[in-house]
Amino acid sequence: MNLRLDSFITKFGGFAVAVIALALCACGNQESTQNKTSAKPAEQAVEQPAEQTTPSKSLVVFYSQTGSTKKVADAFQKARNADVFEIKTATPYPSTYDSTVAAVRVQRESKQWPALANPKADLAKYDTVFLGYPIMFGTFAPPIYSFLDSNDLSGKVVVPFCTYGSGGRKASAAELKTLEPNASVILAYGISNKRISAEGADSVVASEVEAFFANLAEGKTEEMLMGGYSEQRPLTAEDSAVFAAATKDYGYLSLKPLSVSTQVVAGTNFLFTCEMKAFGGPATQTNVKIFRPLPGRGEPELIVVEK
Ligand SMILES: Cc1cc2nc3c(=O)[nH]c(=O)nc-3n(C[C@H](O)[C@H](O)[C@H](O)COP(=O)(O)O)c2cc1C
Repeated sequence: MNLRLDSFITKFGGFAVAVIALALCACGNQESTQNKTSAKPAEQAVEQPAEQTTPSKSLVVFYSQTGSTKKVADAFQKARNADVFEIKTATPYPSTYDSTVAAVRVQRESKQWPALANPKADLAKYDTVFLGYPIMFGTFAPPIYSFLDSNDLSGKVVVPFCTYGSGGRKASAAELKTLEPNASVILAYGISNKRISAEGADSVVASEVEAFFANLAEGKTEEMLMGGYSEQRPLTAEDSAVFAAATKDYGYLSLKPLSVSTQVVAGTNFLFTCEMKAFGGPATQTNVKIFRPLPGRGEPELIVVEK
């Protein structure tokens, strides 16, 4: 699919989403499509031009400093039978959290992105790139800037995925859209490092990634996924208890819930509008998404903090 997707989307709106969805389905079902093709009578197979019978393949490109994002990359790879390109920095970040924070701060302030051990990926044969990263300073980690500087994503469908402490999925996807205006950056997946480090996380991630692909294939947008929430309303004692249980490890964000809306799924999603004073900084308004499983299936958990 060699489309100028952005202008295509501008012109054809939802239709383009459907085309992208078809491309994503095609790369996920590559094996079964190939089997179907080889089952055709020989003369029919010969009539088809090669590009039309060869489904597109996708590539998972990711950077992971401490292994959380790698787990999601593995799930994407398995779900789409994709090839994988792991971005590696020429010099690794320091081994402690605080010294990595200091190193990343210097890189961000100077916009001197780290040299990569493997700057160039061979992207020519891929229509779709799944781009994975840890959130650092509210957006993607610096090695992603290095990767974007050395590789051309124009004309590709780009699906971001990330891991984070509390959030950054939407903000990083928005920055990616700005930096890659000629790529089609669509729905992003994210998961907190707490959830991905928990027992049984592999199957949780696998099923979330499957659900994510189902949403992509249906052409769902962020707005559509927010459908089905009730109006924001004042908190009840039960809401406050859910909020307290799910945010107990996030004291550094100083979150104060102001109102809530809910969405019934297999369990309940809570969307709290909150005041936040992250690391004692100025007060901002943010949304905190919490999932409460069905009774007896576990404790409420924080899914993401984002605007
Ligand atoms: C330098 C640095 C900055 C970070 N900044 C954020 C942040 O702004 N927001 C957030 O939610 N998590 C932040 N994190 C947490 C990481 O996103 C999280 O631990 C991630 O899962 C690490 O992924 P990895 O194991 O693939 O490297 C930061 C971590 C580091 C080391």
